[in-house]
Amino acid sequence: KHKPRVFSGVQPTGNLHLGNYLGAITRFVALQDEHECLYCVVDLHAITVFQDPDELTHNTREVTAAFIAAGIDPTRQIIFNQSQVSGHAELAWILNCVARLGWLNRMTQFKEKAGKDRENASAGLYVYPNLMAADILLYHATHVPVGEDQKQHLELARDIAQKSNNDFAKTIARADYPGGFFPLPEPLIAGPATRVMSFRDGTKKMSKSDPSDLSRINLTDDADAIAKKIKKAKTDPEPLPSEVEGLEARAEADNLIGIYAALQGTQKDVVLRQYGGAPFSKFKEALAELATEKLTPIGDEMRRLLADPVEIDRILADGASRAHAIADPILAKTKDIVGF
Ligand code: ADP
Ligand code: NA
Repeated sequence: KHKPRVFSGVQPTGNLHLGNYLGAITRFVALQDEHECLYCVVDLHAITVFQDPDELTHNTREVTAAFIAAGIDPTRQIIFNQSQVSGHAELAWILNCVARLGWLNRMTQFKEKAGKDRENASAGLYVYPNLMAADILLYHATHVPVGEDQKQHLELARDIAQKSNNDFAKTIARADYPGGFFPLPEPLIAGPATRVMSFRDGTKKMSKSDPSDLSRINLTDDADAIAKKIKKAKTDPEPLPSEVEGLEARAEADNLIGIYAALQGTQKDVVLRQYGGAPFSKFKEALAELATEKLTPIGDEMRRLLADPVEIDRILADGASRAHAIADPILAKTKDIVGF
């Protein structure tokens, strides 16, 4: 029996953080037993904003090391980088010609990332969501674990899959793919930390590009840095509520409690049963201890793995050849239905 196929990616843009870990990487680990998983270091996405070439090479290895250090088994699952499987770029071109400008114009991430100087954004940044659709559809993946910020892109990927199935319905029917060619991918967005917020500003998500190092915990932070950042994290002056309803309109409190719950593998109400009524100073000490216990072994293992870049590159090359084996026949069929 075939296990459902999962695809997801992380950009090698440096500063891997707690949001990437809780919103994406821990979920990747959890899906391993029941799914066939492709976890991709999406370097083609990373260059939609300029990357220093040497840093890009390093960051690609760093994300790979993070995947493995967090518990993804590269012998059972496929860990690879996007630029090594040319089908991503080839399918993305076809999907560029399926997706509509009006659809891309609605993408909020482009507006955020392009900022005010939109005329000066790369063309790649604009069509990024089409490449993301290609990443998933190239493997006929059906499940995509992501943080909440990717929800709109997943909806677009479904629209692109649907329109491709319609546009090429004639050749799809002739080739006898019952029910259409591209499966419509399902986002998997779940758990208490699908949108981890900045420690400095409760209205912004924790992000790699935030200029303030205090805004995020990086996976490579040591115990002192973790404790300092949590201590300095913004909160309101009230003690912790004892019920989840009490977190409404308290974005900073909600964020820290969601992080605690996700790190512990429980839910917010379980954390509030233990800490409801406690002052934040006390809760923050407990959170720093838990975060240190969970994250520092991952940072240590990442450093150990990164000391042997040849081995990391070998793992990526092995992953790429296994990814090719799935992608190549799907790309060949796709070209066939397009009429190439
Ligand atoms: P970033 O958004 O940090 O530049 P990526 O675009 O590479 O990183 O995202 C990798 C994964 O991490 C995606 O699934 C994304 O949804 C998730 N992610 C990113 N930031 C957060 C966050 N603050 N909270 C939860 N998940 C996040
Ligand atoms: Na993102």
